[in-house]
Amino acid sequence: MTTTDANDPVRKVLVLNGPNLGRLGKRQPEIYGHTTYADLVGLCEQWGRDLGLDVEVRQTNHEGVLLDWLNQAADDATPVVLNAAAWTHYSLAVYDACAQLTAPLVELHISNPRERPEEFRHTSYVTPHAQHEVVGQGVDGYRQALEHLAGTASD
Ligand code: DQA
Repeated sequence: MTTTDANDPVRKVLVLNGPNLGRLGKRQPEIYGHTTYADLVGLCEQWGRDLGLDVEVRQTNHEGVLLDWLNQAADDATPVVLNAAAWTHYSLAVYDACAQLTAPLVELHISNPRERPEEFRHTSYVTPHAQHEVVGQGVDGYRQALEHLAGTASD
């Protein structure tokens, strides 16, 4: 559903980003592109408005902070777009936190970790709990993830 009705409640969506993603635009632009994190926040908010979603974008370099956000999302049944960055590949705590989510979880990566040479990127502790995955689409992947959630919001 890409249109909104005045009577539809605006659905809250959290876009949660893990370590080093605050450095988008500066960090390995040959892999992650030139869009800055500030640009990404603005884009996600605009895409959310276009889709009738109330999008809040957050980033942290501290794993416990991400766990607190996921726990709150579980309590509030808030849909989540999650780019857990490096934690994706080894955090059992992120695995456990994702396991309790009841609203849809979309796993997102700007690059496609499974096609990258480092073996450790080929494992994801998020995938088992994700309803949908968007990988290797650059920053546009966030738009695709929000579109997916807007689609699930129609029923
Ligand atoms: C990433 C891929 C991860 O392997 C990496 O650790 C990141 C970013 C991505 O968005 O492509 O930090 O999640």
